[in-house]
Amino acid sequence: MNLRLTDNPMELLQEIDACRLAMARLRRDGRRVGLVPTMGALHDGHLSLVRAARKMCDAVVVSIFVNPTQFGPGEDFESYPKTTEADLDACRSEMVDFVFSPKVSAMYPDGADMTSVHVSGLTEGLCGASRPGHFDGVTTIVSKLFNIIPADAAFFGEKDYQQLMVIKQMVGDLNMPIEIVGCPIIREKDGLALSSRNAYLSEVERMQAQCLNQSLMAACEKITSGQVVVDEIRDGIQKIILDAGPAEIDYIEIVDAVSLTPLPKIDRPARICLAVLIGGCRLIDNVAVDVPL
Ligand code: PAJ
Repeated sequence: MNLRLTDNPMELLQEIDACRLAMARLRRDGRRVGLVPTMGALHDGHLSLVRAARKMCDAVVVSIFVNPTQFGPGEDFESYPKTTEADLDACRSEMVDFVFSPKVSAMYPDGADMTSVHVSGLTEGLCGASRPGHFDGVTTIVSKLFNIIPADAAFFGEKDYQQLMVIKQMVGDLNMPIEIVGCPIIREKDGLALSSRNAYLSEVERMQAQCLNQSLMAACEKITSGQVVVDEIRDGIQKIILDAGPAEIDYIEIVDAVSLTPLPKIDRPARICLAVLIGGCRLIDNVAVDVPL
């Protein structure tokens, strides 16, 4: 593991200019910089990205910014959990070097930018279909962060698999000089993927939410035992979710692991992705699947 090169205490940066200066210092000192973009309310999933960055880089920057442009009307921008002090403590414990936490007015001084970054194709299905404009908000803010923080590598979770693939595509297409590192999903003991939004769940809903991972695991077992027909696999997933309690299924899709196009049968590396509303809380999960032998 790379050790932190200095004993300097973690610095909290809220201004873009101060952040640029700090990054220029790191680059002048020849440090390999790792960036972990987040919207805060940090949990072990986020911290796993920080740990991966710590291993691969010698300076770690975490950005905390609840980005308004990736939330649609009626979504939870206003109520998104904010746990600033706990987030800063967690970053300190993980030996983060800098936290960049700008105000909305610093990132969007005119309320909204006239420029946005759009990745076509990959953003059309899955979450893109039910959250129009969401990925434009994500790719635009991530581009802005990459311009403010010229990191060598940036770390993203497979929890948001479509987001990871969209960002990889953007970085390739726009020749951005940054390595995108995908990190595995961190789960609770019962399999529920950690998410800042899990805080919205009541105790009963929290129990019910186990069904998401259970349905994916059952699907993986079916595939291992030879089932390749996507409709059959999807029906099994849907049954497990609806049997667990009241839920609104946004989508259950089995897609090509790279192009994210829906597959009729599993004949190549694929990803099962789902989004389900439980008690009004939108939860997503996914799992990698391979062609059964
Ligand atoms: P946020 O939801 O805060 O997630 C920040 C990063 O943490 C993302 O890369 C996400 O995939 C990862 N993450 C969340 N839960 C995880 C888990 N259980 N296991 C592993 N990784 C997990 O994603 C965003 O913020 C925003 O869209 C952002 C990229 C910051 C742009 O605003």
